Amino acid sequence: MDPGLLRDDLAALYPQFGVRVAHAGLVLAGPTDVELLELAAIVGEPGGVVEPGREHELLGWPEETGDAAARRFLEYTWGLREAPTAPRWRAPLAVLEGGRALGLVILAHEHDDPAGTVRTSSWLARAEQGRGLGRRVRLMLLELAFAHLGAVRAVTAAAEGNAASRRVSERCGYRETHRGTGVHGVVEVHSAVTPGVWRRRRLHDVVVDGAGPLLEAIRPF
Ligand SMILES: CC(C)(COP(=O)(O)OP(=O)(O)OC[C@H]1O[C@@H](n2cnc3c(N)ncnc32)[C@H](O)[C@@H]1OP(=O)(O)O)[C@@H](O)C(=O)NCCC(=O)NCCS
Repeated sequence: MDPGLLRDDLAALYPQFGVRVAHAGLVLAGPTDVELLELAAIVGEPGGVVEPGREHELLGWPEETGDAAARRFLEYTWGLREAPTAPRWRAPLAVLEGGRALGLVILAHEHDDPAGTVRTSSWLARAEQGRGLGRRVRLMLLELAFAHLGAVRAVTAAAEGNAASRRVSERCGYRETHRGTGVHGVVEVHSAVTPGVWRRRRLHDVVVDGAGPLLEAIRPF
């Protein structure tokens, strides 16, 4: 089935599937199962996302590979599929280039988050890292969050040793808010950005479609 048509059908029930964010050939869209299987194959491949031995730098990322890792990824991502409401909503979005799934990002608001706050998390296939996609994708997410969903603050967390993730946040204007200790004693660096700071770093040619029904479902989050 055509992925666009499938997304339209899903969007009639789950409005997060109707959101599409595009910038210079890169597209973020709710992942179909076909795309999730492509991503699961990357997750299952040894070193597909993170250099072996550095898994602890991805907060909560399991060390297993192969089918077990693929299944765990699928089950986690399927678990994010739920009708969005103001107190809690999750929008997982596949990173697509030329129809190929390269990674996954999640924009979300959880029960205990302050009003108007969104969280982001992201990963890209290792083969695609280091060519500026991480920064572009984050700015695309912030465009959706700040300019279309009315968020007033975006937060993220990265392991202290995750230089790429922390640099992406820094370049998008995030400032460190606090540190904590997570599983395996990993130091987590938390940071936040507001619309005023993001606006000075905004990518001007991001096109966001289909955010209205999601906004309708989550307002006021
Ligand atoms: C984190 C991630 C999304 C960043 O995306 P990316 O496409 O690799 O990053 P970019 O190419 O946009 O690079 C962003 C900046 O980080 C810098 N950077 C990248 N890798 C780096 C490294 N290993 N050490 C230091 N700086 C690094 C780049 O030079 C760039 O800085 P610059 O703009 O000043 O030149 C990606 O690396 C990834 O998926 N990593 C594995 C999963 C992960 O760690 N996710 C985050 C969990 S919190």
